[in-house]
Amino acid sequence: QHISWDVSAAQKGGFKHFMLKEIFEQPRVIADCLAGRVQRGSERVALPELEAMDAPERLFIVACGTSYHAGLWGMYLMEQWAGIPTRVEIASELRYREPVLGPGDTVLAISQSGETADTLAGMHLAKARGARVIGLCNVVGSSVAREADVVVHTQAGPEISVASTKAMCSQLTLLTLMAMVFGQKKGVLPADVAAHCVPALEGLPALLDGILPALRERAKELCRVYSEARSFLFLGRGLCYPLALEGALKLKEISYIHAEGYAAGEMKHGPIALIDPKFPTFALAPHDGLYPKVKSNLQEVQARGGKIIALTQPGADLDVDHPWEIPAAWGPLSTFLMLPALQLFAYEMADYLGKDVDQPRNLAKSVTVE
Ligand code: AGP
Repeated sequence: QHISWDVSAAQKGGFKHFMLKEIFEQPRVIADCLAGRVQRGSERVALPELEAMDAPERLFIVACGTSYHAGLWGMYLMEQWAGIPTRVEIASELRYREPVLGPGDTVLAISQSGETADTLAGMHLAKARGARVIGLCNVVGSSVAREADVVVHTQAGPEISVASTKAMCSQLTLLTLMAMVFGQKKGVLPADVAAHCVPALEGLPALLDGILPALRERAKELCRVYSEARSFLFLGRGLCYPLALEGALKLKEISYIHAEGYAAGEMKHGPIALIDPKFPTFALAPHDGLYPKVKSNLQEVQARGGKIIALTQPGADLDVDHPWEIPAAWGPLSTFLMLPALQLFAYEMADYLGKDVDQPRNLAKSVTVE
């Protein structure tokens, strides 16, 4: 009998959408990013691309969209692990400002496609000012890759879905390695990072692979509860603040439900006025040093009748409508377990609502025009 051979179905590897396939590729992506850069059993990390480079005196991270959120996340590590003053700039803002930027500064341009017009313009401005430019890019031979002084490839493989998932995972992995390398170079890498980060990174792919199916099931349940929501608030503190921004972007761009990512500590400065039973909150509440603060923010939300989904970890005593407990990884690496939950929540919501997940309306995979 005639077998209808759908090439794109073959490329999807049996997954319903490229986005779902790419979310489930993240364990392999982490492993591929580590290959050749961390030596099993050793504490040291090596990024050959940066071997000849001194650690930056001052770092500007320039990007758009999801890559901007990855850069925002990276800033915390660059400061805490390598003591590098770091600014993260939305590329379309930097290029039209007169930034204080010049020789001696380092600019890190993050771009999955390597063709985003605003990010490229940010790079050109940096080079015109005499700054050193590092590219963090997923496409070999792309403009960012060619025009950077030094390029680090994220090796996530082609990302087909317009909504970026595995590329962000690879960006965060490389940013972790870069912060370690710069910390090593400056001799300021905290001892607990030197002792625990590499083993924790090596265990991450298996840990993530083990929980992805359960994350998807929970995301399916929760999206049905909130499929009528007109708007969502995503809250996080510290490293979870960039994740809150990213969770909101994912939901917006593929399910078309409005969502806003916010620093949890900012709630009392205005947004708390929005809370009511029809305006749900998705909170990132890992059981870390900031947990007590996030917990009290959520109590304020509940006092106003707000419904809450809270991503949390064992030991957290959150009394919210929908606790979503996931395992913890070492320190900041818990991010790699929380990010897929956010991606899957958006994915299952969009699929449930019957949206075109891989090609959302009005969006392009790479914004090569201004
Ligand atoms: C993310 O899901 C979007 N597709 C979009 O925000 C994207 O991250 C942004 O356009 C930047 O693209 P780039 O990483 O290829 O530069």
